[in-house]
Amino acid sequence: MQKIAQGAEAVIYRDLEKNTIMKERFSKKYRLEQLDTSLRGFRTRREAKILQRLEEMNFPAPRLQSFCDERMSIVMDFIPGEKLRDVLENGDDYQQLAMEMGQKIGLLHQKHIVHGDLTTSNMLLNERSKELNLIDFGLSQFSEKIEDKAVDLFLLDRALESKHYKLYPQIFAKVLKGYREANPGAEAVLERFEHVSKRGRNKKK
Ligand SMILES: Nc1ncnc2c1ncn2[C@@H]1O[C@H](COP(=O)(O)OP(=O)(O)O)[C@@H](O)[C@H]1O
Ligand SMILES: [Mg+2]
Repeated sequence: MQKIAQGAEAVIYRDLEKNTIMKERFSKKYRLEQLDTSLRGFRTRREAKILQRLEEMNFPAPRLQSFCDERMSIVMDFIPGEKLRDVLENGDDYQQLAMEMGQKIGLLHQKHIVHGDLTTSNMLLNERSKELNLIDFGLSQFSEKIEDKAVDLFLLDRALESKHYKLYPQIFAKVLKGYREANPGAEAVLERFEHVSKRGRNKKK
């Protein structure tokens, strides 16, 4: 097992033989211990549950192998390929990728899954299938609420503007195009998105 990434909440190890990764949520010293344990347990179980649901949907995400809410770990398939964050910046088919991003999010929302942390670091371009795969479902939830979906898109909008300021807003327009194609309930969400954006922007000032 080889460590391949370390984020704010988890360490990722890769098992080359099994072609899997293990995501282990470590404790955060600044949190009260009880709260920390319950939060990590909750997010571990949640991520595992969503991955299971996504597999049933045939949605492009890593397949769940196992999880343990004592060790706070999840084992899932390794997705070969680069982060969309890097592909977007270095390639020239960013418009097509942006559209695919929107389609994938539209599919999730149509099934009432809200990702909760939509950034281009949580999307991998699978080099085998050539398809965009979504990862990092620890903050996801099942929700039918238009507001939750609109906020999900708003967080993506903010992330795109800050990480890809040169390509933005060209790419965001394409994301919305893809989103509309994949989600028949898109109009209501996009209408709410306008309100959420105004609210968010006013707050910033
Ligand atoms: N299934 C996977 N296959 C390949 N790489 C992965 C996989 N899951 C995570 N990674 C890598 O580890 C990084 C962190 O994983 P992620 O689930 O996003 O955790 P964090 O909560 O720390 O952001 C990802 O950006 C990606 O580079
Ligand atoms: Mg992540």
